[in-house]
Amino acid sequence: MTRTVVAEAYGGPEVLALQDIELPALSEGQVFVDVRAAGANPIDYKLYGGEMGRDPASLPMPIGMEVAGVVAEITPGAAGYTGGLTVGDEVIVTNISGGYSDRVVAAAADVGHKPESLTFEQAAGLLLVGGTAWHLLTNTAVGTGDTVLIHGASGGVGLMAVQLAVARGAKVIATASPARHAQLRGYGAEPVAYGAGLADRIRAIGPVDAALDLVGTDEALDTSVELVADRARIATIAGFAKAPELGIAVLTGADGGQAIRDASRVELVKLAAAGKLDVTVDRVFPLTEAAETHRYLQTGHARGKVVLVP
Ligand SMILES: NC(=O)c1ccc[n+]([C@@H]2O[C@H](COP(=O)([O-])OP(=O)(O)OC[C@H]3O[C@@H](n4cnc5c(N)ncnc54)[C@H](OP(=O)(O)O)[C@@H]3O)[C@@H](O)[C@H]2O)c1
Repeated sequence: MTRTVVAEAYGGPEVLALQDIELPALSEGQVFVDVRAAGANPIDYKLYGGEMGRDPASLPMPIGMEVAGVVAEITPGAAGYTGGLTVGDEVIVTNISGGYSDRVVAAAADVGHKPESLTFEQAAGLLLVGGTAWHLLTNTAVGTGDTVLIHGASGGVGLMAVQLAVARGAKVIATASPARHAQLRGYGAEPVAYGAGLADRIRAIGPVDAALDLVGTDEALDTSVELVADRARIATIAGFAKAPELGIAVLTGADGGQAIRDASRVELVKLAAAGKLDVTVDRVFPLTEAAETHRYLQTGHARGKVVLVP
C-alpha cells in the first residue's frame, strides 16, 4: 500500500484527495522508489484544472511528475540514465505520474543518481524546470555573445534558464518583480521590472537577439516580437493561445522536445553537483497538504521550487 494524491474530479485544488492504493508488482525494467520529496509544478494543477483537456477516463488522476527518493526494489539488470542502479541508491526520478506518494513505480530509464550535495528537496525540483529551460535555450540557439530576454525569470523555469544562459556565455535581461532582482543579479543577469514601459526599459539596456517567454502574457509576447528581429529566436512555454498567430514556437515535451529534455538530465545533474546550478527551494509542504501547495503555486509568485514531503 502507498498513500498517493489524486484529483477525484476536474476542478480546483479542492478536488485533491489522499488515497491508499495498492501498487502492482514490478514489470521488467521498472523500479520502486521510496519518495523523500516530490516536486510541484504548475502543470500538476493545470492537468486536473482541465487546461489540457478533460477525459473522465483519466479520473482519479494521479498527481506529480518528478521525485527524489531511495531505490526500494528493482528488476534485474535495470539501468538508469546515470548507469546501473542498486537498492538503497539515492535517485532523481522524472517522467512519472503520481509522484505525490510515499512510493512510486518508474521506468529505470527515468531514474538517475542524486548527487550527495543536493538535498532531496532540491533534487526533486531540478529536472522538470531544468530540462524545460534547456529545451528553450536549445530551440532558440542561445550562445556566446547573444543577449537573451527571459520573461518570468524568477520562477522555477526562469531561474534555471538564467543560470544556463549565463553558463552558455549569453548576456541575460531578466524580467521579475523588484523583490527578486537581487537574486537575478547574483546569477549575472540584468533584472528589469515587468509592467508598463517594459520595452523601453529593455531598449535602454541594449539590443536583444533572442527571447524566452515563461509567462504567456500579451506583454511578454508583444515585447518579444517588438525587440527580437528573428521570430525563430523567440519561444514560449506558456503563451499557447497567442503565440501561433505571432509565428512564435510553443514548446512542450510533445513536440519532440522530450528527447532534448531527457538528454539534458545527465548534464543538469552534473552542473548541480558541481555547484554550478542552484536549485532554490521556496517552500516544503507535507503530502497531506497538496491542496494548500497548489493554492500557493497558483499565486504565480512562488520564490523558487515548491516541494512536498511524505
Ligand atoms: N510547455 C512546457 O513544457 C512547460 C514546462 C514547464 C513549465 N511550463 C509553464 O511555464 C510557466 C512557468 O512555470 P514555472 O514552474 O517557472 O512557474 P513558477 O515557478 O510558478 O513561476 C512563476 C513566475 O512568474 C512570474 N510572473 C508572474 N506574473 C508575471 C508577469 N506578469 N510578468 C513576468 N513574470 C511574471 C513570477 O515572478 P515574480 O514573483 O517575480 O512576480 C514567478 O517567478 C507555467 O505556466 C508552467 O505551466 C510549461
